[in-house]
Amino acid sequence: MMRFRAAGVIGLGYVGLPLSKLLVEHGMRVTGVDVDPAKIRSLQDGISYISDLSDAEVQSLTTGGRFEAASDYGGLTAVEAILICVPTPIREDGTPDLKYVELAGRHIASLPLAGQLVVLESSTYPGTTEEVLLPILESQGKKLGKDFYLAYSPERINPGDRSFGLSEMPKIVSGVTEDCLRMAKALYSPVYRKVIPVSSPRAAEMAKVLENSQRFVNISFVNEVAKCCEKMGIDIWEVLEAVNSKPYGNLPFAPGPGVGGHCIPVDPLYLQWKADEIGVDLAFIRAAKAVNDSMPGYIADRVERLLPDARLEGKSLLLIGVAYKKDVNDLRESSPLRVMEILAERGAHVSYHDPLVPSVSVGGRRYDSVELTPDALRSADCAVLLMDHSNLPIASIVAHARLVFDTRRATGALGPADHVKYL
Ligand SMILES: NC(=O)c1ccc[n+]([C@@H]2O[C@H](COP(=O)([O-])OP(=O)(O)OC[C@H]3O[C@@H](n4cnc5c(N)ncnc54)[C@H](O)[C@@H]3O)[C@@H](O)[C@H]2O)c1
Repeated sequence: MMRFRAAGVIGLGYVGLPLSKLLVEHGMRVTGVDVDPAKIRSLQDGISYISDLSDAEVQSLTTGGRFEAASDYGGLTAVEAILICVPTPIREDGTPDLKYVELAGRHIASLPLAGQLVVLESSTYPGTTEEVLLPILESQGKKLGKDFYLAYSPERINPGDRSFGLSEMPKIVSGVTEDCLRMAKALYSPVYRKVIPVSSPRAAEMAKVLENSQRFVNISFVNEVAKCCEKMGIDIWEVLEAVNSKPYGNLPFAPGPGVGGHCIPVDPLYLQWKADEIGVDLAFIRAAKAVNDSMPGYIADRVERLLPDARLEGKSLLLIGVAYKKDVNDLRESSPLRVMEILAERGAHVSYHDPLVPSVSVGGRRYDSVELTPDALRSADCAVLLMDHSNLPIASIVAHARLVFDTRRATGALGPADHVKYL
């Protein structure tokens, strides 16, 4: 089996940077490319922009002699594999925006290729690798199987989860041809504990959007039931604890302000778009999106009803945790931010604390994270706990806030208190 010694990684974000580190740790030389000059500068200065990597880890990567980062593609001519880890967002109208993948493809096509393996790692709908990327790579006269090989291998990293090393994650691989698949297996086998080959890029693309769609549907379903429980006067958290005692056929999901991030609420829409194109209605995804979109407004309604005069106008609200997910600094598609926007639109004076997010821009206004002092907690009409980051001072929040609305049951271990309300 051939052994890859040098790889290029296009896109040094939440996926590409940890992946570069992993490849370097497994003995490869990595050339990273990112169009964002701020990221390249930050790497040169040894400063991490990703909550999962410390400055020390970035410095050890950038000074170890096996990693280089640049904003141009020139260095990729000397590598054996090129891994594309660029964003795949949705447009305003909910349709896939593949412009970053297309641009990366055009850049690669313009390089003097010599049989490099190109792998798309970005999440996308079934068909992208062969219907979109392959024609771009061939557009300047280059031939698949001679000038380049093409594979799809979805990234399955779980930001914020340090308990599970990236190389432990089973790596799904596929190739456009048998040779492409053979090369993809050779690239990833020395790096990942388990490589899962599938028969085509379309199957691998579907595997990725399916695993994220099932999470989207399940979390949205629990959120829908949480709303129902509130109307029925039932504690959803007590119910879930009981349900989760079932030793088989049950997957635990927790309610909250809604699913955010660049993946879980986005990938299902990629699948839905492709399904629409062939006349298939994915009703579960449609329903999950409707529930998910409704959650921030529902949280705002609950806060309003909890206030002594049931009015948001003029109230001072301290929101705690605005990232889209526990223990990350990523704000993409963050539902806590949407909650903040709605509360501000309805006339509340909002401030926020997030240990991982120093400032945010919401509704055209910039907010800086405030310190979670006893005074700040006491002076708010309500502290709204939106994201349960590990290092939040939960006991102090409960001790000093006048009213707490806890959407994550992060305060649960302290036992019930009259001024603490759960979602
Ligand atoms: N973040 C996650 O948890 C996660 C998990 C699994 C899969 N994914 C998927 O991986 C892909 C990347 O996600 P991410 O979270 O790392 O995004 P990101 O925004 O953190 O990083 C992408 C990087 O690509 C750069 N970029 C964009 N276009 C480029 C181009 N043409 N050339 C070079 N650089 C370019 C951007 O400047 C950015 O730094 C997406 O498809 C996403 O769905 C993300």
